[in-house]
Amino acid sequence: MLTKKPKTKILVDGGDPEETLRIKSLIGFVDGQTTNPSLIAKNPEIQRRIISGHKLSLAEQSEEYKKIVQKISPLVGDAGVSIEVFANFSTTAEQMLAQGEDMFSWIPNAYIKYPCTYEGLRAAQMSVERGIRVNVTLCFSQEQAASIYAATRASKAPVYVSPFIGRLDDRGENGMDLIRAIQQMYKASDGHVYVLAASIRTVDQLLACFALGVELVTAPIRVLESWAAKGLPMPDRNFVYRGVDTDGKPLKPIPYKDIDLTKPWNAFNLRNDLTRKGIKTFVTDFEGTLLRPESVG
Ligand code: G3P
Repeated sequence: MLTKKPKTKILVDGGDPEETLRIKSLIGFVDGQTTNPSLIAKNPEIQRRIISGHKLSLAEQSEEYKKIVQKISPLVGDAGVSIEVFANFSTTAEQMLAQGEDMFSWIPNAYIKYPCTYEGLRAAQMSVERGIRVNVTLCFSQEQAASIYAATRASKAPVYVSPFIGRLDDRGENGMDLIRAIQQMYKASDGHVYVLAASIRTVDQLLACFALGVELVTAPIRVLESWAAKGLPMPDRNFVYRGVDTDGKPLKPIPYKDIDLTKPWNAFNLRNDLTRKGIKTFVTDFEGTLLRPESVG
């Protein structure tokens, strides 16, 4: 158990309440949870139904997702439970918002996840105007983080931005540099956007997030369990993040850019290959649980 709570809130990245409970017993608390279509597709109950030959209708899928987050909701602290809307490349902001409004009513501590695309940010903007808490996901660039900041200025609650560290590392770029760059850029902001470091693959990345003092970090059970197996160490002032690939070679640095946060949100470049790839994966995983994928609109 952790005797002293770190400044960084710790979230479980997963779609199974049993995992949340396991981590809670190892660490002593869980501040929040993030879910997404891929993680929900892996939920044991959903997998059991699929393996036994029963795919889900769209309504059943939504009902299952709701049941899962309703079980997780009371287990976590004030960082809430992030629930992701279904979005493919033709889903409009209005369609995402309609899902977000419904999902926000499922539990009292919901954060609605929208992808970091033009339509996703339009949905996030409309959501914060309606008092819906949001988490903008699949963020891979400082420009995208600037756009999220500008689109959600009206929010009364903290807005989460989820930069994906591991997926940048996968293509040889140092994802942790993006976290640093966003933090530095937000120093000159009104502070309404919190960094939620995501796509954590190693204990070292988790410790680097603590060392940087990011507001929130979400990690899969595998990483949290190995951190617990090492005795839940916290980085000391000599901690250095190595930023190496799986062969131990240094990752390419991501340089900081000077960006004017006062510009309108749609003045920033939102296009990013990894965001598109991430959406494709979520769509495939989501549709893999469904009876009739073509019925998703
Ligand atoms: O929270 C985002 C996370 O689920 C993505 O992780 O390992 O698929 O890049 P990963």
